[in-house]
Amino acid sequence: MTVSLRDMAVDVLNTSDGREKCARSRHHAQAWFAARKADAPLPLGRAEPPLRPARPDRPELLDPRDVPRRRPGSPQGRIAILHAIAHIELNAVDLHWDLIARFPDIDMPLGFYDDWVKAADEESKHFGLVCDCLEGLGSHYGALPAHAGMWRAAEDTANDILGRLAVVPMVLEARGLDVTPGMIDIFSRAGMDGAVAALNVIYAEEVGHVAYGSKWFNFLCGRGGHDPQPVFLDLVRKYFHGPLRPPFNEEKRAQAGIPPDFYWPLTEPV
Ligand SMILES: [Fe+2]
Ligand SMILES: [Fe+2]
Repeated sequence: MTVSLRDMAVDVLNTSDGREKCARSRHHAQAWFAARKADAPLPLGRAEPPLRPARPDRPELLDPRDVPRRRPGSPQGRIAILHAIAHIELNAVDLHWDLIARFPDIDMPLGFYDDWVKAADEESKHFGLVCDCLEGLGSHYGALPAHAGMWRAAEDTANDILGRLAVVPMVLEARGLDVTPGMIDIFSRAGMDGAVAALNVIYAEEVGHVAYGSKWFNFLCGRGGHDPQPVFLDLVRKYFHGPLRPPFNEEKRAQAGIPPDFYWPLTEPV
């Protein structure tokens, strides 16, 4: 029996070790694209994704308020930043596979799956790159506590694909575009070429993930005959807790298909 795409997604979600999760993710992505190239796409299938993905025992997950503040001026502070990025990347791997597995009743073109498998594959690579940096500095993923709240957006939008696209790629990943240049600057000042190289790969590829979010959000709105902008604002106000914070990376957001009227109105508390 051929393994379906959603079986592969659930396999990744149910793997707890970070490196192993990412190895499976990359392996499954390769299988998906090999079949696509051979013009024999794997079946999408149907599989039950867990409400929460499996995660390693470490890092300890803390309420965001209890995670120690990071001081970028010190070596320990820079390790803490890389650790936080590794945690975001691992969450992103699960978020993309969850999006693939979660909504089997919504009929989407194969290009939707191509985009999110590619995004999941890239997040898996990002996690590996950042773990390599951490290990090169004598640390590792799991050595420090990490935010507990990152899966909340996925749980809140488990029944709402438009809400998922609005909050995950178009708000959270777009926020990554805003803050990554500042982080590249921190590591560049510290002469940490490996971290700078990893962050440059992440920065370039994250534009694509935000663009996939915008593309499929607009697709679904168009199919339903809805004006995307007011729908987007309503969904972000419903599922994202708190206003968006400038400054925004207007250039990269525009490149990713997020126009200013999709974020400036959300800087005001309702
Ligand atoms: Fe990433
Ligand atoms: Fe991403």
